[in-house]
Amino acid sequence: MVEVTRTSVAVVTGAASGIGRQCCRQLLDDGWQVFALDVSASALGEIDAELQSGDRLRLLPCDVRDADNVASVFSEIAQQAPFVDALICSAGILRTGPLMDMAIEDFDQLFAVNTRGAWLCTKAALPLLRQAASSQMPSRVVMLGSIAAIRPKIGGGAYAASKAALSRLVRVMAVELAQDNILVNAVAPGTVDTPMIASALAKPGKTYKPSGRSPLGRVAEPADVVAVIRFLLQPASNYVTGTWIPVDGGTSAAFVASGAPTGG
Ligand SMILES: NC(=O)c1ccc[n+]([C@@H]2O[C@H](COP(=O)([O-])OP(=O)(O)OC[C@H]3O[C@@H](n4cnc5c(N)ncnc54)[C@H](O)[C@@H]3O)[C@@H](O)[C@H]2O)c1
Repeated sequence: MVEVTRTSVAVVTGAASGIGRQCCRQLLDDGWQVFALDVSASALGEIDAELQSGDRLRLLPCDVRDADNVASVFSEIAQQAPFVDALICSAGILRTGPLMDMAIEDFDQLFAVNTRGAWLCTKAALPLLRQAASSQMPSRVVMLGSIAAIRPKIGGGAYAASKAALSRLVRVMAVELAQDNILVNAVAPGTVDTPMIASALAKPGKTYKPSGRSPLGRVAEPADVVAVIRFLLQPASNYVTGTWIPVDGGTSAAFVASGAPTGG
């Protein structure tokens, strides 16, 4: 008998830059159809030109802070695809500064994008994720967490809180959606070399301090993170749900006292 295979479908938020962009690149290389969502329509145009994947890459401007916009974008996706196998929530922002100096607007924006935005997108994607899910091949939600949720830094308290809140959503969603055969996990990077970090470092009077090189001796590339996301989309991870997987070269594993050697 000839096995009939279908093209897997993914939705990636924050698709136009950094980790989301690398995720789109990898999924397209792996033969997926990808709906790429981002608040920046112009940046989406750039990935279209770069990735040149024709019909398999669909670009949809979407602001994950806006519930109506999210709902209408997912109903547009539903018209083009009857199911979604995977949702990757990479849309995120970084705002830094001592907590007592931080503007209320910055604090609210962190939660609006990093926490509420990921929840809104999962809620909107749910009917399509359910359509694709089976006990043999569950559907997947992968959130972009951060080691900030495990090991917060001074100057990054509100960002850390937005990711810590996301970590609780991941755990509860995983259990609530288990009966639907939908797996919910997060990857939690340390510093990754992306435009988010470059622009935080370039800000005059910057308050962002990167974690720096990990115990493995380097800063992560987006591909390091996407490799773990890819594992979470494959049958090898069919029994993994509700996890928060550090992808940080050991940065959050143990405190390194100043001047101490990390090896040996
Ligand atoms: N780069 C790092 O060091 C690092 C570390 C830990 C976690 N993360 C997380 O990984 C994710 C991706 O980060 P990145 O480094 O690739 O950042 P990035 O800035 O390179 O990309 C983020 C993308 O999200 C989009 N975005 C922002 N607000 C949005 C909104 N309201 N609606 C839709 N899209 C929106 C941006 O336009 C951008 O294209 C984020 O959630 C971030 O918090 C990054």
